[in-house]
Amino acid sequence: FSLTRRRTLGLLGAAAITPGLGAWAKAASRPTLRIQPARAELLKGFVTDAMVSTLPDAPPPVLRLKQGQPFTARVENATPDYTTMHWHGLRLPNAMDGVPYLTQFPIGQGEAFDYTFTPPDAGTYWYHPHCMTMDQMARGLTGILVVEEAEPPGFDRDIALNLRDFRLGGDGQFIDLWTARGAARAGTFGTVMTTNWATEPVEEVPAGGLVRLRVAATDTARIYKLFLPGAQGLVIALDGHPLAVPLPLPVSDAEALLLAPGQRADLAIAMPPTEGATVDLMTHAPGKPRLMARLLASGGTLKRELTELKPLAPNDIPEPELDKARVEELVFGWSPEGNLPNDGLCGTMGYTFWSINRLPWPGDAAGAGPLVDLRQGESVILRLRNESPNDHPIHLHGLAFKVIRSNRREVSSHWTDTALLLEKEVLDIAFVADNPGDWAFHCHVIEHQKTGLAGYIRIS
Ligand code: C2O
Ligand code: CU
Ligand code: CU
Repeated sequence: FSLTRRRTLGLLGAAAITPGLGAWAKAASRPTLRIQPARAELLKGFVTDAMVSTLPDAPPPVLRLKQGQPFTARVENATPDYTTMHWHGLRLPNAMDGVPYLTQFPIGQGEAFDYTFTPPDAGTYWYHPHCMTMDQMARGLTGILVVEEAEPPGFDRDIALNLRDFRLGGDGQFIDLWTARGAARAGTFGTVMTTNWATEPVEEVPAGGLVRLRVAATDTARIYKLFLPGAQGLVIALDGHPLAVPLPLPVSDAEALLLAPGQRADLAIAMPPTEGATVDLMTHAPGKPRLMARLLASGGTLKRELTELKPLAPNDIPEPELDKARVEELVFGWSPEGNLPNDGLCGTMGYTFWSINRLPWPGDAAGAGPLVDLRQGESVILRLRNESPNDHPIHLHGLAFKVIRSNRREVSSHWTDTALLLEKEVLDIAFVADNPGDWAFHCHVIEHQKTGLAGYIRIS
């Protein structure tokens, strides 16, 4: 096969997109993302083969878009498998959503697809394939997408942190990417925890400066429990959208911020004014807390205060009318009939364990109707009832919603696209069905999604 090799990679690496930790870059307007095999040193002293990225031997870059400005990405497939690209959390036209059979045909080997959209909302989002996901995502194909505010809030540094595991053996090579046992329970966890494809990366930032950390949980299964011991700062946005009232930064294990697969948090950090001081992003993990990334104060001393930051402007999203809303219940649980055939939305795992409203995702959307059929413009409350003993980060494409009620806990009602549904919890989410199309709706533990916990919502 032959691909059009457009000579853009060098240029993209230098100017339009930034690999790895931090660094400002110009917003990409027309990047080419070439999905290809990659290698990297994830485990010290070993080169891991058979990874998947959009750059040669480097993690998928941070894409920086501008709010309200058109963006086009050409996605080229240089792997032997089918693929698509999905722009997680963005409210975009349905045809650009990247869901195989629902919104487009999969992109075959040597083929390309142009995704064009104008992001209406600023914030931290991410991108990943929606085909062969248990393979391609587990091998590295998850990247952070930043939509920059029209007016910059005034940080000295802006750093994107992509948190994810890899399942490697002692020789640094991939072992089984998932197990049936894991898929039927909380998911199969990786063996090496990474940030931007590195273990315990250190980033130098100005002492006394204001740093924006954009943390994204792109792992296929792990729920991170994040805290920054002794740090000064605020949680200013969750899942892309600004918090009307910023939350205190979690500084201890006990107050850790849960970040489930698919979710993001924007943290404003005030670095200590002394050279050599550190701020650590930790996650709670069995045994002892793990260091995910370290900020090291160096180079000149700034004397910035958190109060100097401009508050993030809210994204313009219609408020649902709760008293008039249509209420629909969706039940998350086991697959009622055992192991039904299930093509897993492009790339089967060969098992069916899960269901929504007793219906496991049957595969090709042609055969399956929507879970809920909504009229454009109506206000909706979806009552998510978890009958299973596992947690599920439930994700809705193409729209932003609010969590308004739980039977188990206080909920904060910020806009989101992925809500963590705890075991045995009933969670009400609300939104205005203002974006027409067939929108995928699924658990973001990829093994759950691909063994049945997926469906779609129609708005017409
Ligand atoms: Cu982040 Cu349907 O996915
Ligand atoms: Cu999505
Ligand atoms: Cu799940």
